[in-house]
Amino acid sequence: AAGCATLEELRAAFEAFDGCPLKETAMSFVFADGNPDARLMIVGEAPGAEEDRQGLPFVGPAGRLLDKILVAIELDRTQVSNTNILPRRPPGNRNPTDAEISACLPFLERHITLASPEILLFVGGTAAKTLLRRTEGIMRLRGKWTTYEPASGDPITARAMLHPAYLI
Ligand code: URA
Repeated sequence: AAGCATLEELRAAFEAFDGCPLKETAMSFVFADGNPDARLMIVGEAPGAEEDRQGLPFVGPAGRLLDKILVAIELDRTQVSNTNILPRRPPGNRNPTDAEISACLPFLERHITLASPEILLFVGGTAAKTLLRRTEGIMRLRGKWTTYEPASGDPITARAMLHPAYLI
């Protein structure tokens, strides 16, 4: 991941990576969608059934609610970028394991560095806890401004919200 200089290189390296066992069960590799240069980058948990079919993040019921939430702040998909903690669907939408998250995290960290957003929005507890390196639940982490501290480079303004799948 660290050797990738562009998002295209990162996408190719991540897709080819064999270190996460979900590669054997998922149909699609779901990297990102939206505007890669957006000021706002949204990070969810993992693709669901519809995302696995289409190969795009946030295109199922949770994604449609997220679209409505974005409309409420006068944004649409062309003005944000979307990705997930994991690029492949866990079977039956089970929660990601710590091993799956650790295997994929260097790619997401590099993705954030290359995209260099002004604001990160963590959707749901898995994204918030992983990227903020915190153990509290989403009920405590949501709704306040904080910062994402990358391994190198400047901190990025960040915020966590309840997952739209939970709201549904
Ligand atoms: N839930 C997520 O966290 N991400 C998706 O892409 C779809 C549903």
